[in-house]
Amino acid sequence: MKNIKWMFNESLPMEMHKARIVQKINLLEPKKRLEAIKEAGFNTFLLKNHDVFLDMLTDSGVNAMSDKQQAAMLQADDSYAGSETFFRLEAAIQKMFGMKFFLPAHQGRACEHIISKALVNKGEAVLMNYHFTTSKAHVVLEGGFVEELITDEGLNLNSTCQFKGNVDIDKLKDRIEKLGSKNIAFVRMEAGTNLIGGQPFSLENFEKVSKICKSNDIPLVLDASLLSDNLHFIKTREENCKNMSINEITLKLGALSDIVYFSARKLGSARGGVICTSSENLFKKMQGFIPLFEGFLTYGGMSVREMEAIAVGLEETMDEDVISQGPIFIEFMVKELLKRGIPVVTPAGGLGCHLNAMKFLEHLPQTEYPAGALAAALFIVSGARGMERGTISEQRDENGVEPLANMELLRLALPRRVFTVSHIMFVVDRLEWLFKNRHLIGGLEWSEEPEILRFFFGKLKAKGDWPEKLLENFEKDFGDSL
Ligand code: F0G
Repeated sequence: MKNIKWMFNESLPMEMHKARIVQKINLLEPKKRLEAIKEAGFNTFLLKNHDVFLDMLTDSGVNAMSDKQQAAMLQADDSYAGSETFFRLEAAIQKMFGMKFFLPAHQGRACEHIISKALVNKGEAVLMNYHFTTSKAHVVLEGGFVEELITDEGLNLNSTCQFKGNVDIDKLKDRIEKLGSKNIAFVRMEAGTNLIGGQPFSLENFEKVSKICKSNDIPLVLDASLLSDNLHFIKTREENCKNMSINEITLKLGALSDIVYFSARKLGSARGGVICTSSENLFKKMQGFIPLFEGFLTYGGMSVREMEAIAVGLEETMDEDVISQGPIFIEFMVKELLKRGIPVVTPAGGLGCHLNAMKFLEHLPQTEYPAGALAAALFIVSGARGMERGTISEQRDENGVEPLANMELLRLALPRRVFTVSHIMFVVDRLEWLFKNRHLIGGLEWSEEPEILRFFFGKLKAKGDWPEKLLENFEKDFGDSL
């Protein structure tokens, strides 16, 4: 971030870009918001975008694109095989990670499918700093299992640790010794660890993990989907990296990894998926699956227009002004929430702001889904939609028993370069009102619960008439304003 000095006491985050294309958004009246969330079965995934004022569901595929990305899309070379576009993207990836081989796929989970197919055999372990839903599902689909080796601080919602995404090195050594390296398909490090609040790992930790993997002949796989935030944190929080450029840090990560993959819906601010490696052997193991599951080797299910946008987006990721925008806006929002005593995950990470719903709604048992209830309540009072990351996002076991999540979080994603300070302050304002009136928020129960991925399309209902009471009190305080 540029070092800009303000005359005020407190500084505001500064956009290092200007808006040239805009999209109108609607703020429904409160009664309509209540109707919409009821119709959606209190599941924010089922809301219609037209009814949403500020869409903080995810940063996936909804980051703002630059003028240069849009311009590049016009020179896309459409051909089934050997398009110019492929070679431009390949060159951008080689420059960024220093890796020779590139395989395209339609999005991040497709990369996970290919990597798991090629590397995981039945009964084998995949060790991770922390799982992501799709990364774990693909390992399990191949008959493997996942073990998480995050440090204890990583699961501490309020910590001073600057790198909560780090692997516990002793745990890693211990697991390799106990399981035997032959039974470990790969080690996966996730940048900007999503499910613990977008928390980064340090380059130092990554170097240690890589060294251990090399000496035990275990491939190290980097999930770089949230790398742009992680790069910002390495550069600003890690003393030894202060004098390195973003590209130098990225090249170092590439050199320490056997495979890098990412969702280009996040990294590169477009839509697609990328796998790259320096190993011809690993490349050959994965290559055959691309035409089978994704598309021919030079597009892998992506639109060539998106591929052009990714190539430019990756280049722009090397610019500190570009990658700092997300983290500094999130940090600003976290600070504003903390000032008001609202429980939020600290330190601020990437991706978005994560509210601790278990603490926000201390009166609700976990079995009544506090994070889901808070997401619904926030929509009713603001039209902003977040994502439940708690027990609703878990899956019942084979006996139908529901595991309670480690954390009940409401994630408010800040897609990159999309929202302004006033958007953020509006949500903070409504959260302050909700926090003062938190006793009005009640629990949820299932009305339609699908067997798989219930959080995507399942429906719930309120226990009692708390949503109506919440609206009544809101209208009492806000009159007929929105
Ligand atoms: N890895 C990480 C760390 C992710 O956050 C995601 C997606 C994926 C892989 C899968 O990529 O969506 O392109 O298939 N995260 C999105 C989110 C869905 O909202 O956090 P994908």
